[in-house]
Amino acid sequence: LENGLLRKPPMGWLAWERFRCNTDCNEDPKNCISERLFMEMADRLAQDGWRDLGYEYLNIDDCWIGGRDAKGNLVPDPKRFPNGMAFLADYAHSLGLKLGIYADMGNFTCMGYPGTTLDKVVQDAQTFAKWKVDMLKLDGCFSTPEERAEGYPKMAAALNATGRPIAFSCSWPAYEGGLPPEVNYTLLADICNLWRNYDDIEDSWSSVLSILDWFVTHQDILQPVAGPGHWNDPDMLLIGNFGLSFEQARAQMALWTVLAAPLFMSTDLRTISAQNMDILQNPLMIKINQDPLGIQGHRILKLHSVEVSTGSCFDCPSLAWEKSHIEVYVRPLASEASAIVFFSRRTDMPYPYRTSLARLNFTSSKVYEAQNVYTGDIISGLQDKTNFTLIINPSGVVMWYLYPIRKLGTPQQ
Ligand code: GLA
Repeated sequence: LENGLLRKPPMGWLAWERFRCNTDCNEDPKNCISERLFMEMADRLAQDGWRDLGYEYLNIDDCWIGGRDAKGNLVPDPKRFPNGMAFLADYAHSLGLKLGIYADMGNFTCMGYPGTTLDKVVQDAQTFAKWKVDMLKLDGCFSTPEERAEGYPKMAAALNATGRPIAFSCSWPAYEGGLPPEVNYTLLADICNLWRNYDDIEDSWSSVLSILDWFVTHQDILQPVAGPGHWNDPDMLLIGNFGLSFEQARAQMALWTVLAAPLFMSTDLRTISAQNMDILQNPLMIKINQDPLGIQGHRILKLHSVEVSTGSCFDCPSLAWEKSHIEVYVRPLASEASAIVFFSRRTDMPYPYRTSLARLNFTSSKVYEAQNVYTGDIISGLQDKTNFTLIINPSGVVMWYLYPIRKLGTPQQ
């Protein structure tokens, strides 16, 4: 959507995956969906370095709605949001943050709160603008495909008509199976800044893998539709929660970054460990995610098993691929740089993966340098035929930031 917003993938915090629809503020006042929770997360975002690294969105999800007033305007739950949403938006803005809110194109939200039916689209857009909201996630539960086909473009127009810049996150494609012909990605890129393509992420490694597999299977469709102002959204980061090991947390961060995905954390920033903060606050990782070209990366072609069975060729990466269970993802970046993620699907032990840039389809008359994004180690003087070996941990990654340093044949500085 060309509204000037989200020229880079959005970064911030979103309540859903970690805090769900906990509305029990009597029993669990610290964790229930309430003004207090969002103010405390806002404080952490501002004070613990997050905002300054780019994590600027503070996003509310389902279960905030109290109902509609006599005029039909949405109102927040009065017990849990006693000061109202304009107050929360002001609070976020006072800390240099932006506030995101949630609604549902349909009769009810997914958790059964009042929805935004077609006749309420314009009114709700105006309400959000009046509150000074900065992003809207519009879910799609309890509606028909016809209602969604009318409602999402209608909301895009209604938000635009408010005059307030409001980033628009559409769950629409996830409700239509995520693929053409049911999903029209050209239209989506015109009316939405980001969209959920596929299933909800859950707090487990198997959930991360199922989402990754779906994105890779359909990468030829999905890769070209992403770009500045319009992003695919494989859903929130689980880092800091309960389901991922250290290696898996690093892997999700690297894979989401190479996919040019939005970086929405959904974790308790009040108690997050230093180790998980390091993963989420890695400056080179964030620089790569926020690369100005905004090109989504892809997995390098999996080579055919036919080639494996006949493969005795030296330069035939298929052999290494099939046997190693190491996958390679590449994202082109500005200034002829690239991000490369070497991802292990193994479950045995750290694996020595021997390859070269040429085998990874880089052919160039330049000499490269690679910086390991997690360790900071630098390997210099790489030519396309230079063999190198990486040790990749089970369900872990090695991630490289690769950039040319000079033309072949030119002297070293
Ligand atoms: C759907 C969405 C989730 C979350 C819940 C809230 O499942 O995909 O991201 O917003 O609804 O009920």
